[in-house]
Amino acid sequence: MKAFTTWLFAVVALAMVVTLSPAPAEAQQINPTAESVTEDALLEALQGGQMVDGRVSIPDELSSGLIKPGNKGWADRHGGLVRTLTAIAIVGILVVLVAFYVMRGKIRIDAGMSGMSILRFSAFERFAHWLMAGSFIVLALTGLNLVFGRSLVLPIVGEDAFGTLSTWGKVAHNYLGWAFMLGLIMSFVAWIAHNLPDKVDGEWIRQGGGLLKKGVHPPAKKFNAGQKVIFWSVMLGGAALSFTGVMLLFPDWAGGQSDWQFYQLIHGLVAAGLTAIVVAHIYIGSVGMEGAFDAMGSGEVDLNWAREHHSLWVEEVEGKPEYEPHAASSKAQPAE
Ligand code: HEM
Repeated sequence: MKAFTTWLFAVVALAMVVTLSPAPAEAQQINPTAESVTEDALLEALQGGQMVDGRVSIPDELSSGLIKPGNKGWADRHGGLVRTLTAIAIVGILVVLVAFYVMRGKIRIDAGMSGMSILRFSAFERFAHWLMAGSFIVLALTGLNLVFGRSLVLPIVGEDAFGTLSTWGKVAHNYLGWAFMLGLIMSFVAWIAHNLPDKVDGEWIRQGGGLLKKGVHPPAKKFNAGQKVIFWSVMLGGAALSFTGVMLLFPDWAGGQSDWQFYQLIHGLVAAGLTAIVVAHIYIGSVGMEGAFDAMGSGEVDLNWAREHHSLWVEEVEGKPEYEPHAASSKAQPAE
């Protein structure tokens, strides 16, 4: 009852400034002071999905649209598609990773830890990676909250907490997009030269990257073929997300209603696909492979890890002073 009264008040207030168009296709601009609508007619329009257009005195004329039935129908149809495909992508990749873990277990360093470390990524590379990765993770979580929050998070945390969470989530999503773009550009600059296709990639793929069988170590340079796929997915997917995201942030630049709908659809679909790929990447870069995380943690990896996974890269950097292998524990030694 209370909700109904509040709603009725809102409708009455709107009736003072809002005019009705008879046909959904065209919104008429009627001077509301000369020809105001009756409350009943407005209620009927709201329920019947007619286009309701008002009058605004700010330069953004598009903001006068109150209800656009075409938009609502589009959101219902495509929102459902994005939701379904996102669920398939995320659940699908989790099932694949669990199956992979059950079959293969954690990928170990076959020769064991050597106790010697070698520099893998500079401070610049690690900063670029974590700027891109940290912002992407928050963007993905806040984006997923938009798609699934109402059905998955709201019932658990309640309306108040969900309202606060979603409001801050939206702010974070809007602003962290810029941090992601910066991290993306820095990573592109740092790694493009190492991610161009190479003839060793074919051999790496033929041997399944050595991921499927213990003791198999196909040669690879700084990045293997699997990592190149991750790199290009992140770069191209990230660029698509950035472009469509900016268009959605500044709809005036994007064009009209059909353009926003198109950008929204692409944004949702690319986000779903890239999130699934990134989940697989996070698994291999952390718990899935012994010694991998150090590359992005301290920047130094065990020499045996480097020889098993990136043998050609080790040969290439051998002899360069900054890549001189050193005792892994040397940093932890107390000063004499
Ligand atoms: C907690 C999350 C993450 C962890 C633990 C992680 C870990 C790693 C590690 C260890 C590497 C270096 C692999 C090597 O030495 O060869 C790496 C590289 C990379 N990461 Fe991440 N990462 C994470 C999140 C992300 C996210 C969210 C993105 C993209 C949005 C990303 C994109 C990349 C790219 C493009 C590379 C270089 C190519 C490759 O190694 O696949 N990472 N990451």
